[in-house]
Amino acid sequence: FHHLLSPFCSPALVFLFSLLPPVKFTVTPLCCPSRSSILTGRYPHNHEVRNNSLTGNCSSALWQKGPEAEAFPIYLSKQKYQTFFAGKYLNQYGKKEVGDVAHVPPGWDQWHALVGNSQYYNYTLSVNGKAEKHGDSYEKDYLTDLIVNRSLRFLDDRSPQHPFFLMLSPPAPHSPWMAAPQYQKMFSDVQAPRDGSFNKLGKDKHWLLRQPVNPMPNSSINFLDDAYRKRWQTLLSVDDMVEMLVKKLDSMKELDNTYIFYTSDNGYHTGQFSLPIDKRQLYEFDIRIPLMVRGPGIKPNQTLQAPVLNIDLAPTILDISGVNLSTVNVDGQSFLAPSLRNGTARPFFLVEYTGEGHPTTDPACPKLGPGLSQCFPDCVCEDAYNNTYACVRTLDSKNNLQYCEFADSESFVEVYNLTSDPHQLENIVKKVDPTILQAMNQRLIKLQSCSRTLKRYLLSLSIRSSGSITSMYRVGSRWMNGVCLYELLSQV
Ligand SMILES: *[C@@H]1O[C@H](CO)[C@@H](O)[C@H](O)[C@H]1NC(C)=O
Ligand SMILES: *[C@@H]1O[C@H](CO)[C@@H](O)[C@H](O)[C@H]1NC(C)=O
Ligand SMILES: *[C@@H]1O[C@H](CO)[C@@H](O)[C@H](O)[C@H]1NC(C)=O
Ligand SMILES: *[C@@H]1O[C@H](CO)[C@@H](O)[C@H](O)[C@H]1NC(C)=O
Ligand SMILES: *[C@@H]1O[C@H](CO)[C@@H](O)[C@H](O)[C@H]1NC(C)=O
Ligand SMILES: *[C@@H]1O[C@H](CO)[C@@H](O)[C@H](O)[C@H]1NC(C)=O
Ligand SMILES: *[C@@H]1O[C@H](CO)[C@@H](O)[C@H](O)[C@H]1NC(C)=O
Ligand SMILES: *[C@@H]1O[C@H](CO)[C@@H](O)[C@H](O)[C@H]1NC(C)=O
Ligand SMILES: *[C@@H]1O[C@H](CO)[C@@H](O)[C@H](O)[C@H]1NC(C)=O
Ligand SMILES: *[C@@H]1O[C@H](CO)[C@@H](O)[C@H](O)[C@H]1NC(C)=O
Repeated sequence: FHHLLSPFCSPALVFLFSLLPPVKFTVTPLCCPSRSSILTGRYPHNHEVRNNSLTGNCSSALWQKGPEAEAFPIYLSKQKYQTFFAGKYLNQYGKKEVGDVAHVPPGWDQWHALVGNSQYYNYTLSVNGKAEKHGDSYEKDYLTDLIVNRSLRFLDDRSPQHPFFLMLSPPAPHSPWMAAPQYQKMFSDVQAPRDGSFNKLGKDKHWLLRQPVNPMPNSSINFLDDAYRKRWQTLLSVDDMVEMLVKKLDSMKELDNTYIFYTSDNGYHTGQFSLPIDKRQLYEFDIRIPLMVRGPGIKPNQTLQAPVLNIDLAPTILDISGVNLSTVNVDGQSFLAPSLRNGTARPFFLVEYTGEGHPTTDPACPKLGPGLSQCFPDCVCEDAYNNTYACVRTLDSKNNLQYCEFADSESFVEVYNLTSDPHQLENIVKKVDPTILQAMNQRLIKLQSCSRTLKRYLLSLSIRSSGSITSMYRVGSRWMNGVCLYELLSQV
């Protein structure tokens, strides 16, 4: 048997493993939709979790009835894996309206899930469906340590007859950035990197990116440097977690028989394009995430050239566990399969994001109108309802391009050539050959219409912005092992 262990939402900072590959992409740069993609192996338009709210399907009743009931843990359980989860699950998990802590998603034998969004202290866990309240004693309650302690206990109590799967999901380095006491003075001379697009005004970008103050005031810079340091401090406990687990697996004589995946749910920016701190943007700093894998057959220091997506984790894990992937409905593909290793199987993929806003004006920023969110520090807003976009990211040996369309009143389009402009400083939409724009626009429509189950889908092209497509297509399409099988049924 192969065993599996997968810590998620715990970026960067691991020095213990052979690495493969150093980066991957998230198909959506926000916690709940991205986690839903990790669990289901599906693009957001197929799991239909739009944002971090219940009304946007984050841990909603419909999610529980639909996508969650087909997520990868169920298949592992059918393969007789002993399964364990601890830490942050989905931002709205455990809320009264949607089953409270009694709701334990199917497929998990041991369940220690955080109620609600990231916390380090003073939180409630669902422990196999029962509420367990915690205070703020470091020794008893610090969540990162508690997660690893329980995982070690699970490994001690497991049956050696069957394989195991653990998912450890520390909130770190998410806010509210509470480092362990012994780490609170670390990295005092560290500041956020000043490279790439740091404190630069983006040229010709969408509406939200035209609002930040440039150059940033010192208060913003101090805030983001402090956040950066504190995030690193919280990750030191995640490093401890990894070390303890690896030592444990070694002492159990299972280390060489276990795959370990180390990854996160979204990227993060600190000062890029004068945005102080957050994710939610289409740029590389928010959609690229670390992925390191150790396990049988993976050579030390091997780097995978082809892009890997967060929707590939579920099929990869199921592939390792021996599930026939043709029988599973996923949009991603196993990156252990030979087809991806040569980097030709998927030259382009989708990134989708639905902007979050507030219906009313932020009282701390009375000059700003409604429709915005995340307006701190210094009233620079990181998100808005109309920060809603879909992109085709092309990445192969010849091309490194990004094409994005916004659902805003300008039908804004951003295009980057990352070969010549790796920091996405210049939007080339007005310079690029119009036939490339047209091809990208069509590719985007096809990818977004590609659904989980074969269905008739009438595309409405009215919100598409290139203006180059006038006809309507009737298409049938479905995902199969990471390939969109697309069939033109008729043109109308
Ligand atoms: C929530 O998911 C259900 C299917 O699970 C879907 O019918 C509904 O439209 C989704 N809601 C939103 C806001 O996307
Ligand atoms: C935890 O809650 C207690 C009681 O409300 C409060 O005094 C304490 O400051 C909180 N601790 C943290 C770390 O938030
Ligand atoms: C975790 O276990 C260690 C070692 O037994 C102990 O010192 C620590 O207090 C525990 N922490 C938590 C939060 O359970
Ligand atoms: C902002 O910080 C810079 C560098 O530390 C300093 O030179 C400058 O005087 C500061 N500006 C204000 C307004 O405090
Ligand atoms: C892996 O790469 C690191 C950094 O380049 C190097 O120090 C180490 O020796 C390499 N390990 C192996 C097994 O090649
Ligand atoms: C996987 O499932 C497909 C579809 O049911 C089937 O055609 C194929 O033979 C199966 N492959 C293996 C190796 O069992
Ligand atoms: C990549 O792998 C696929 C599937 O194995 C194969 O069809 C294709 O020819 C390979 N391409 C290259 C360039 O090796
Ligand atoms: C989340 O999505 C739902 C459904 O589209 C929407 O009603 C709600 O306002 C969104 N939440 C935020 C914070 O934008
Ligand atoms: C985006 O939404 C904000 C807030 O509602 C509005 O002020 C702005 O004009 C909108 N911009 C576009 C391009 O739609
Ligand atoms: C992107 O930049 C590279 C290097 O300058 C260039 O060779 C290539 O033609 C560009 N691609 C597009 C689509 O502009």
